[in-house]
Amino acid sequence: MSQFKILYLASEIAPFAMAGGLADVTGALPKAFKGFNHEIRLMIPKYKFINERKYILREVIRLREIPVTLNGKTEIANVKSAFLPDSKVQVYFIEVGDYFNRAGIYIDPKTQKPYPDNAERFAYFSKAAIETLKILSWQPNIIHCNDWQTAFVPVYLKTLYQSDAFFKGVKTIYTIHNLTSQGAFDLDVAEKIDFDLSQTQEGGMFNKEGKLNLTKGAIYFSDFITTVSENYANEIISDDEQGFGFGPLLEEKGAKFEGILNGVDYSVWSPDKDKYLPHHYSKEDLSGKLENKKALLERIGLPYKEDIPLIGMVGKITEQKGFDLVLKAMDPLMKLNVQLIIHGDGDRALVEKLLEYTKQFPDKFNMHVTFDDKIAHLVEAGADIFVMPSKYEPCGLNQIYSLRYGTVPVVSAVGGLFDTVEDLDEESGEGTGFIMTDLTAEALLKAMKRAIAYYKKKDKWRDLQIRIMDEDFSWEVSAKRYLDIYERIIND
Ligand code: GLC
Repeated sequence: MSQFKILYLASEIAPFAMAGGLADVTGALPKAFKGFNHEIRLMIPKYKFINERKYILREVIRLREIPVTLNGKTEIANVKSAFLPDSKVQVYFIEVGDYFNRAGIYIDPKTQKPYPDNAERFAYFSKAAIETLKILSWQPNIIHCNDWQTAFVPVYLKTLYQSDAFFKGVKTIYTIHNLTSQGAFDLDVAEKIDFDLSQTQEGGMFNKEGKLNLTKGAIYFSDFITTVSENYANEIISDDEQGFGFGPLLEEKGAKFEGILNGVDYSVWSPDKDKYLPHHYSKEDLSGKLENKKALLERIGLPYKEDIPLIGMVGKITEQKGFDLVLKAMDPLMKLNVQLIIHGDGDRALVEKLLEYTKQFPDKFNMHVTFDDKIAHLVEAGADIFVMPSKYEPCGLNQIYSLRYGTVPVVSAVGGLFDTVEDLDEESGEGTGFIMTDLTAEALLKAMKRAIAYYKKKDKWRDLQIRIMDEDFSWEVSAKRYLDIYERIIND
């Protein structure tokens, strides 16, 4: 395999700017490419909150005051550079006009709504990224885009830059991380971002259900499309609801659409070196896990009682993540001899209703309504059982972290959850977790009860823990699959 030059674009990259699982992926996969000796560079908007000192952002003289024009309106871009922590992967931070000099990534904390000019913000970012390449005279073989915020790039390259010799032979790949966020805007936005207006008509490449749809555009204009698990790839083709009607279009892509499971960064997510854990442990010695459980219970104000399983949940408290099912299962669940901790924020109505139960069952259930990475790690380590009853889940990462932490997952049978957890056969002891047979509260309760019953068989439970800690979802495997796709499209 020859050496590739890869430009990797995203709106979130851990640890600089994070809003969800996307950041975990974009902060880790590039390191795996670098490990295979490819040349990879990242670009991300320079949000106001990015800590320039902490991450040692440096000015790049050449990349100052770059004019970026869309629809006749010129904004000035300035680009700084740094490295992904503990790596030699270079990251460019692009500031354009005043578009990213704001408190939020997508949502204005003041109004709790998306910024009204989100399409223009990321269009300018994308165009600035393209212009930056020219000034750097760095010509990648591949531009890898992630989610709608970067969907502009494949479109611009095949329209605005179509006859620009610099980009001849540059191939684009677009990864769908979650189809719920498609980048749908009013049709009149198309003009502001220099999209071909004839394609915004009904049936056009940018029009979906009367809206300008950036995901649709990216699917048309990219040389290859991927999504983040094989099962999700199948689901969005075959199930109209999961696929939001993108099925036929993706099917048309044929062999140019694939699901590749995300990996996880075990340098961050391993119980023997996790920097957030008060007690380290490994499959050879699990005693630290119990200590973490005690620390977690103390932290959230629940009493420790021997032999009572602690169920953990981390994530956005939304119906998508199945918290409505949890709410429905609360009455019967609280009758069992269990404890439950939920860590995350989200839908107000759901949060309020769940909080009611903390008053009713102060020894059994508590919630930590915020998102704190440190606590998320502690829940992964301290809980005995980890629950993810998502309605859809393109990949999902927490269930994979749970496996490594010896925390047995209970999951719904969707998306990447299905690809990463194998239902336990209680007789033979084969399998890695408990899978819900349905997307209902009853099925959730049933799967949790199976887990609780198995927990009581101490030796078997320990065997299961030790076995799941051995499951390996490191990035190398997935990175190789991406590299294989790069090679194919470069030679196409
Ligand atoms: C999105 C998906 C999640 C996936 C992540 C990273 O957040 O909802 O399932 O793990 O992207 O690809």
